[in-house]
Amino acid sequence: MRQLELSPRLQLLADWVPRGARFADVGTDHAYLPVWLTLHGRVTSAIASDLRKGPLERARETGRTYGAEGIDYRLGDGLVGIRPEEADTIVIAGMGGENIASILAAAPWTADGEHTLLLSPHTKAEELRLFLMDHGYAIRREALVRDRGTLYPVMEVTAGEMTLAQGQLWGGARLLHDPLGDRYIIEKIIRLMGAIAGKNRSERPEDREKADGLRDTVTALLAMREEWRHANCP
Ligand SMILES: C[S@@+](CC[C@H](N)C(=O)[O-])C[C@H]1O[C@@H](n2cnc3c(N)ncnc32)[C@H](O)[C@@H]1O
Repeated sequence: MRQLELSPRLQLLADWVPRGARFADVGTDHAYLPVWLTLHGRVTSAIASDLRKGPLERARETGRTYGAEGIDYRLGDGLVGIRPEEADTIVIAGMGGENIASILAAAPWTADGEHTLLLSPHTKAEELRLFLMDHGYAIRREALVRDRGTLYPVMEVTAGEMTLAQGQLWGGARLLHDPLGDRYIIEKIIRLMGAIAGKNRSERPEDREKADGLRDTVTALLAMREEWRHANCP
């Protein structure tokens, strides 16, 4: 039987799944995570769910290829087809932050204190952090992982209260000591500068106003970068 090796991003997520978890992977696609966790005996149960038939078929194929038994493959939108008592640890990774937020908004039971969420948005992480802050979730742990040249944030989230400043929405809630934190902040600043340049070319007054807001975010990120340097550079 072939050995399944996870990418650095999926390996970090796998490492954060508590031993013996009742696990669900929403938007599983190839189901690499539930298959790996099952093969390594890390979880008590595993649901692999996806919105679309094609990815779910790929998920089943991975299970067959690596001989992973007992995974529950489910077709469904977000957490709609999963009952709260079926999982205590839920991964939602590899999609936009706004998509992850709408999946959680449709399943408010994820903020009941009984569930740990491991979230890794591919884009718009700032929108996800804002949603979490406004809807009774707290980011307990956050880390960056570099995978094929791209930096991804990974967040461990439970029910709770948190207040994030504008810089933290963009630059990370808990990345002050992350070795890649500086790089992540710089990437965000570069992206924001591009957006500001675009808005400045516009004739519309509302775009000019938006550019002012984005400039404030850049200022907050520059201050965060200084904090990161103080914390990490002797
Ligand atoms: C790029 S893949 C990510 C696969 C894996 N989670 C990872 O992180 O590598 C995104 C998957 O999410 C699925 N997806 C997108 N929106 C979804 C939703 N609302 N509910 C369930 N699955 C969804 C897509 O069909 C696709 O298979």
